[in-house]
Amino acid sequence: MNAPLDVPSAILHRRSIKSFQTRSVPPELVRRLVELAIAAPSSYNLQDWRIVLIQDEMQKVALAEACFGQQQPIQAPMTFIFAADPNSWKGDITPIYEQGIRTGAWTEETVEYFKSAIPKFQASLGGRSREYAVKDAMIAATHMVLAAESLGLSTCFMNGWSEEKVKG
Ligand SMILES: Cc1cc2nc3c(=O)[nH]c(=O)nc-3n(C[C@H](O)[C@H](O)[C@H](O)COP(=O)(O)O)c2cc1C
Repeated sequence: MNAPLDVPSAILHRRSIKSFQTRSVPPELVRRLVELAIAAPSSYNLQDWRIVLIQDEMQKVALAEACFGQQQPIQAPMTFIFAADPNSWKGDITPIYEQGIRTGAWTEETVEYFKSAIPKFQASLGGRSREYAVKDAMIAATHMVLAAESLGLSTCFMNGWSEEKVKG
C-alpha cells in the first residue's frame, strides 16, 4: 500500500466517484476506517452516530433500490450508512465517561459536570435534537471519507435515497 496522503492532499484529491471496482477491502483497512471515523468530535462527546456496514450482496441490491437505482452501493465493495441517534444520551453513556477518564481527556469533575449538563442541554434542544445528532454523524462521515481518500480508497457521499427504505 502507498504511504497515506496527508490531510490537505486527501482533501484536494477527493472526488465523488460514481463507478467502482468490486474487489473487496481488507478487514484491517475497514477497521481502520471505522476507527478514524469514530475519532471524530461530537457535541458533548455523545458519539451519537450508529454506523452500519453493508457488504452482503442481497443487502447491496436492496440498498441500491432504496437509492432510486443508483449503482454505487452495488458496484462498490462496501457502503457505510451513518445514522444519527438523537436519543443516545438517554441510554447508558458510562463508556463515554470511562473513555474520557482513561484517555486523560477528562477529570472526574468534568464527568460530574457532563452528567448534569447533558440532560439539561439535550432537553433544551426540543425539536432540534435530530439536527444535532445529524451534525455529529456528518462530521464522523466526513472523517471517514477523508481517511478513505488518504488510505487509497475512493468514495461517494450519498443523499439520494428513501429514508424509509434504507431504514427498512
Ligand atoms: C450530502 C451529499 C449528498 C450527495 N448525494 C449524492 C448522491 O446521492 N449520488 C451521487 O452520485 N452523488 C452524491 N453526492 C456527490 C455530489 O454530487 C458531489 O459531491 C458534488 O457534485 C461535488 O463533486 P465532488 O464531490 O467530486 O467534489 C452527494 C454529496 C454530498 C455532500
